[in-house]
Amino acid sequence: MKIRTIKQIHNLKNKRVLVRVDFNVPLEKGKVAEDARLIASLPTIEHLIKKGAKVILVSHLGRPEGFDKKLSLSPVAKRLENLMGRQVKLLKIERLKDYRNEVVDQISKMKNDEVVMLENIRFFPDEAKDENNFGKTLSGIADIFVLDGFAVVHRDSGSVTGVAKHLPSYAGLLLEKEIVGLSKAIEKPKKPFVLVLGGAKMETKLPVLKNLLSKADYVLIGGGIFNTYLWAKGCKVGKSLIDKEYKNEALKLLKNKKVILPVDFVVGKENGDKARVQDTSYKIQVTNNEAIYDIGPQTIRLYARYIKKAQTIVWNGAMGYFEQKPYDVGTLSIARLVASRSKGKAFGIIGGGETLQAMEKVKMMEFVDLVSTGGGAMLEFLSGQRLPGLKLLTK
Ligand code: 3PG
Repeated sequence: MKIRTIKQIHNLKNKRVLVRVDFNVPLEKGKVAEDARLIASLPTIEHLIKKGAKVILVSHLGRPEGFDKKLSLSPVAKRLENLMGRQVKLLKIERLKDYRNEVVDQISKMKNDEVVMLENIRFFPDEAKDENNFGKTLSGIADIFVLDGFAVVHRDSGSVTGVAKHLPSYAGLLLEKEIVGLSKAIEKPKKPFVLVLGGAKMETKLPVLKNLLSKADYVLIGGGIFNTYLWAKGCKVGKSLIDKEYKNEALKLLKNKKVILPVDFVVGKENGDKARVQDTSYKIQVTNNEAIYDIGPQTIRLYARYIKKAQTIVWNGAMGYFEQKPYDVGTLSIARLVASRSKGKAFGIIGGGETLQAMEKVKMMEFVDLVSTGGGAMLEFLSGQRLPGLKLLTK
């Protein structure tokens, strides 16, 4: 996929550039708890400033319904200021009516090395579906539009696609990096290509499985997908996470020869009590108040064999309930295996909130080739869907 990027813009001097980032980050006690998405967009922001542009950042935070003080981008602007060593002026929303004039006024006063950030764009109800010409109005405050938030590229909203219809539009460096990396894995992957798929929800994972089954050599399964499969086969799985709606699809897709299923798993109580390993070749015994919470040791050993041979690895989704010991072993082992094989021997990609948390826990993030900032966006891209945010940037 070829997209227009900011490297192709010749003259940025004094141009007002509206940059749609995704700074939807977790907050704790009014402070940014995890700043990876901020750091990921720094190269784009710095590139634009270096070329003399006036940078106006736009992001959402959470899913507010109208103005919500708790979801102000104020802590985000502060953290960005620290990270960049530059002033980041947050344009608060006191009076929605005058907001546009205020923004235009502030931008005209901007100093060259300063950055302006608009308050949470989802405070405007028209943003979600680009109603009442929201994107068009937003485009009035800038000369150029840059989409850098890969994590929001699947949203057909005013600040993603709406504004792009009215301004010359380009991808930022983060968006470019993610698209190039993900395309490399799914268009012409170096073989063997191993896909590791876990997590709780079937709804977002099955389309990925469907789309990548023809390209991947092996698909290693864990989490809710496996539980649903066992349940669909008639096994008693107690309180395990399953998705009843996908019974038939699970049965059909997971029978494919490329799909490698766990040969054992860890079952027990939610708090870790009575945790024990069960082999899938024996009668499955999960009582009503127990659940399957992890893949077992034989499965880790089996999956290691595939990961150690892979030339391309894509991993999305935990193997189990890794937040609770002793159910963390499977997911953390997969994290170590994927990171150990990446950068050099294989091209390794990971994405999704839980997957990143697991990699963070084993402190091996730096060894992964591409750490995607997108959860839902990455899954939709891997499912082969045409993402709305990319359509307008395609060459
Ligand atoms: C995400 O965190 O996946 C993105 O910021 C998109 O958020 P949304 O699902 O609320 O649109």
